[in-house]
Amino acid sequence: MGSEGWAAAGGSVTATAALLLLLSALSLLLLVVRQLLKQRRPAGFPPGPAGLPLVGNIHSLAAEQPHVYMRRQSQLHGQIFSLDLGGISAIVLNGYDTIKECLVQQSEVFADRPSLPLFKKLTKMGGLLNSRYGRGWTEHRKLAVTSFRTFGYGQKAFESKISEESVIFLEAIDTYKGKPFDMKYLITNAVSNISNLIIFGERFTYEDTEFQHMIDIFSENIELAASASAFLYNAFPWIGVLPFGKHQQLFKNAAEVYTFLLHLIQRFSQNRTPQSPRHFIDAYLDEVAKNKNDPESTFSMENLIFSVGELMIAGTETTTNVLRWAVLFMALYPNIQGQVHKEIDTVIGPNRTPSLEEKCKMPYTEAVLHEILRFCNVAPLGIFHATSKDTVVRGYSIPQGTTVITNLYSVHFDEKYWNNPEMFCPERFLDSSGQFIKKEAFVPFSLGRRHCLGEQLARMEMFLFFTSLLQRFHLHFPSGLIPDLKPKLGMTLQPHPYLICAERRL
Ligand code: HEM
Repeated sequence: MGSEGWAAAGGSVTATAALLLLLSALSLLLLVVRQLLKQRRPAGFPPGPAGLPLVGNIHSLAAEQPHVYMRRQSQLHGQIFSLDLGGISAIVLNGYDTIKECLVQQSEVFADRPSLPLFKKLTKMGGLLNSRYGRGWTEHRKLAVTSFRTFGYGQKAFESKISEESVIFLEAIDTYKGKPFDMKYLITNAVSNISNLIIFGERFTYEDTEFQHMIDIFSENIELAASASAFLYNAFPWIGVLPFGKHQQLFKNAAEVYTFLLHLIQRFSQNRTPQSPRHFIDAYLDEVAKNKNDPESTFSMENLIFSVGELMIAGTETTTNVLRWAVLFMALYPNIQGQVHKEIDTVIGPNRTPSLEEKCKMPYTEAVLHEILRFCNVAPLGIFHATSKDTVVRGYSIPQGTTVITNLYSVHFDEKYWNNPEMFCPERFLDSSGQFIKKEAFVPFSLGRRHCLGEQLARMEMFLFFTSLLQRFHLHFPSGLIPDLKPKLGMTLQPHPYLICAERRL
């Protein structure tokens, strides 16, 4: 080719490159404009803090504990305010009156879950906990509630199964002979075994490292779900193609958990007799068989895996964290621990196994557990809701499909309902004669149609494990090692790892 030819070819390459550059710039501009349009507050929407272009308020949520940030914003913008989660419109409900008004008085409207890309990717909005409000949720919730009754707390023998687990739990603690250790793993094992009895009909040994690993990575996902990466993934799902970032860890963990759960389901459904369920999995498979000719049925193998995972982690993560906070607070406040010891010694004595029948005779212990639930807020933002229809709350227009965040933490620190909420004080749950009193603005299990379905089970577990533990042990920190009281960042609040000494009292 002569020099003119080269020049002509060079010119056409430059023109093509320039055209490509222009097209890319135009596409980027279009994406930015689309994102900025998505970020506009809908008409009549509640006010809220100003956000940054593109990411909205995501950066503020990542900078500190989201529930604390939200409570502070509610003091500036009112009990209902809005957030922009990078083009996803959300409202935050704060204080008891507002949350009750929405979740109870407009229970149907507020019973949906948001179809955020992260949940869509992880559970395809199926299963139970993340499922949209509709037939799928109704079918799965009904089956879970019935199974929890039939194979769990509805059985007279179930309480003794929790007591048997307590004995194994206490024996395992005894092996440390009062030396410092982290009780997290033993509590997790003991607590998850109670749900395991209902879901699989069996407990797992404390040496089952495969099962423990599964719980570990599942809880890691709960932590990752509150990370900036997760919020960014919801706003810009295309970042899923990037090979790095916390969202990739989240997907990897989820895939590993689901494979493990499938194996467990296959193992525990062997030798099943149809219509004679032994546990939740059998009961679920009966529903799959019963509805096999109904194309609309939501019972499927995939939804079984999601439901088993959700029931396991919802039951384990929360109850474990309550008990971990309870142990920490007992060591932090030896006088409160002393009063619980005194009540146990008077009502149960040193030799009898604690039973639920004694609960009504132990108002102080009940008050301590309630104050732990109030003060520690293991699920500070509950689980995100969404509106199933357009609605109006306190004059604000909330369109269908809006993400709704229930700041349960703000209810437990609502000054209208609690005196000195920043103080840890079990006595607030006692009347002047020392009897236990219920408080209206006590909502650790949330309210309305989606309220926690494991509340009854959790209450049984907390009481029986806590009283058994304190009946046998005196808890204290290794000298000089008072742990950090600030919770770890995550969708659930848990203490940072800490060491405890459990010395035998008897
Ligand atoms: C102290 C322990 C527990 C606490 C504080 C707790 C708290 C909560 C909260 C705040 C919600 C969100 C409700 C909403 O969306 O408004 C929830 C939902 C749920 N919890 Fe619990 N929970 C506990 C124990 C359990 C246990 C033991 C189980 C079962 C084994 C369980 C199963 C569930 C399920 C399945 C949902 C979703 C309900 C639905 O979407 O319909 N939870 N829980």
